[in-house]
Amino acid sequence: MNFRHHQHPHDTNDFNAIVNPGNVAGANGADPRTHRPPFAVEAMDLVKDYGSGENAVHALRGVNVGFERGRFTAIMGPSGSGKSTLMHTLAGLDSASGGHIMLDGEDVTTMNDNQLTMLRRHKIGFIFQSFNLLPMFTAKQNILMPLTLAGGKVDRRWFDQLVGTLGLGDRLGHRPNELSGGQQQRVAIARALIARPQVVFADEPTGNLDSVASAEVLGFLRDSVRELGQTVVMVTHDAVAASYADRAIVFADGRIVSDVREPKAEQMSGLLMELSERAARQARRMPSMDQLIGADATATGTATAGTAKPQHAKSTR
Ligand SMILES: Nc1ncnc2c1ncn2[C@@H]1O[C@H](COP(=O)(O)OP(=O)(O)OP(=O)(O)O)[C@@H](O)[C@H]1O
Ligand SMILES: [Mg+2]
Repeated sequence: MNFRHHQHPHDTNDFNAIVNPGNVAGANGADPRTHRPPFAVEAMDLVKDYGSGENAVHALRGVNVGFERGRFTAIMGPSGSGKSTLMHTLAGLDSASGGHIMLDGEDVTTMNDNQLTMLRRHKIGFIFQSFNLLPMFTAKQNILMPLTLAGGKVDRRWFDQLVGTLGLGDRLGHRPNELSGGQQQRVAIARALIARPQVVFADEPTGNLDSVASAEVLGFLRDSVRELGQTVVMVTHDAVAASYADRAIVFADGRIVSDVREPKAEQMSGLLMELSERAARQARRMPSMDQLIGADATATGTATAGTAKPQHAKSTR
């Protein structure tokens, strides 16, 4: 695959910075030649709570992370650890409860609805965990939707290259309900890349693909980073998928617990295994709902997490 002739004009100067950011970053971390911060998007003390009081879910518990321009970052972690929430808040699709998000020199957390719409339209490409294609439009219309909405011109060569690489050539006239899950996902990927946004967020982009299609899509995302300077942040459960990235961040319970450069598949599955074993050990120490209700009914008032003794063998497994 060759993206060379489609290089972003504003990203060509940044290429060395991408390859070796340590050599060109100024005192404040910005590239001294362009004065642009090294991060395409950055979260500072980012907090996201759903609901309030006793029912509150703390989905993000003060996350600090910057995603370098022209890099491919994978986000991993157990189900419910906050990966999608992080992506949605960074992309301005969901509001933050606290902290800040800097994207292209602007704080996303202070934007009004109009500004957020413009941000999503012009600077962000999002590949959703559940595709989110528009059912009444064909594959081609879906792919071109970001340009249609933004009033942008179609770059025919880029469109053809996307469609060719993603193997969608003969499906362009079909509506989403006439496409397989994998084809819908590939349409969603083309739609996210068509306007060459500042950042592409991909939430499990290979979740519905077989291993061959998966490898093609991952190779495609990696090449768009290497050759175009595209910034990609991708959530994945698959350690092999993560090994395509330049960096992998591991989430657990709304926090970053590991940050790995040049991740290897084996290393990442080891890390994830360790996390799930730790979670299982913790779960065994926690009292079950039965025990809490039982403790309450006997009015001892002393049962707290970590101190309650298991009462029923079955409920501790
Ligand atoms: N709209 C919502 N309202 C209430 N709670 C929510 C909402 N969205 C997410 N949550 C909760 O926030 C936590 C983080 O969810 P999130 O979807 O970010 O997890 P995830 O890491 O993407 O999981 P998965 O791997 O299953 O996609 C979970 O406990 C989830 O139940
Ligand atoms: Mg998710």
